[in-house]
Formats: sequence, C-alpha cells, structure tokens
Amino acid sequence: MKSILKYSHHLLEEIVKPGETVIDATCGNGNDTLFLSKLVGEQGEVLAFDIQEQAIDHTDQLLMENNCTNVSLVLDSHANLENYLSADLEGKIGGAIFNLGYLPKSDKSIITKGNSTIAAIHAILKYLKPNGRIILVVYYGHEGGDVERNDIMKHVISLDQKKYSVLQYGFINQKNNPPFIIAIHKK
Ligand SMILES: C[S@@+](CC[C@H](N)C(=O)[O-])C[C@H]1O[C@@H](n2cnc3c(N)ncnc32)[C@H](O)[C@@H]1O
Repeated sequence: MKSILKYSHHLLEEIVKPGETVIDATCGNGNDTLFLSKLVGEQGEVLAFDIQEQAIDHTDQLLMENNCTNVSLVLDSHANLENYLSADLEGKIGGAIFNLGYLPKSDKSIITKGNSTIAAIHAILKYLKPNGRIILVVYYGHEGGDVERNDIMKHVISLDQKKYSVLQYGFINQKNNPPFIIAIHKK
C-alpha cells in the first residue's frame, strides 16, 4: 500500500499532463512544488502559494538547487488565488495539492484554516479541467487542526456527486492522528 505522500503524488501523476498549469496551495518547504514542477515539465507552470516569507524562501532555494524555472511563487493566501489566475485558464488547471497544518520546524501557531482552505478549493474547482483533481493531505493533530478537518469534511461531503467524486484514503490503525488524503475528482 502506498504511503500518504506517495499516494498523494500518485493521484496527480495519473491525471496531470506535461505542459499543464498546476497549483501548490501550501508550498511550505517546497517538496510538493518540486514534484509538480517535474511533473508538468519545462512547458508547464506551477503556481505555489504560502503566507510565510520563510516558506517562499525555502521553496525558492529548493527549486534553484534543482534548476526548476517553471514555478511562480506567490506570497499570499490561497484564499486569494483567483487573483493570480487568468481567465483563459478556466477549465484548464490540471491539478492542485494542499498540505494542511503548519510549516515543519517552524511556528506551530501559523496554520491553515477551514475558511481560507474552502475558499481556495471553491476557486480551484472553477478552473480545474474535467478529470482534474484537488488533493488535500489533512494533518489535524496540532491545536486547531481538528476544527479545520471538521470544516473541510463537512464541505467536501456536500459536493454534488454528479459533478465530483470525493475519495478519502488513510490508515485507520495508526496512532497519534495520522494524516489522511481527501481527493476531489472533477467529472
Ligand atoms: C504543512 S505545511 C506545507 C508543507 C509543504 N507541502 C512541504 O512540502 O514542505 C503548510 C503550509 O501552509 C501555509 N499556509 C497556512 N495558511 C495558508 C494560506 N491561507 N495560504 C497559503 N499557505 C498557507 C503555512 O505557512 C505552511 O507553510
């Protein structure tokens, strides 16, 4: 069985094509951004968001070390991501990924929150291509994490099944609030 990290990437590898535009909604230290950059290749583009300068700097460093030149780093909340998408991208975004929670080895009080995450999901769904996917890796063991998890679950469970398939993937015999995946597939 694939780990949470491997499966989150696998779900995107299945549907994202070289040359597409994709989104890392929470770039953090840049690991998913680097993965997406390689996935879409030189002709593609990655838009990567974070609200912390430290995260943007770490991601920038990682991308430079790997000679990636197809990423636009945005120091802003993913709640505002529509401001960074041109109208001609509507129906063309290949996929997106969120890693919820706090930046590892950093200030644990700066966390993703239900309201802004849901606003970002809503915006991305509008721009997503048919058969595109949004992947959420839900960490909820930290303070405030359970509130965001509950808000998000309530939202994704209510998405119209005629338009979207919503998958939950996780290991149910692990201790200490293990992360799980929510994948939204646009039909
Ligand atoms: C779990 S970390 C991401 C880890 C990252 N995927 C990696 O590979 O290192 C979550 C990140 O979300 C960021 N974040 C929190 N709220 C945000 C928001 N509203 N918009 C964008 N990023 C946000 C945090 O600053 C933090 O860096």
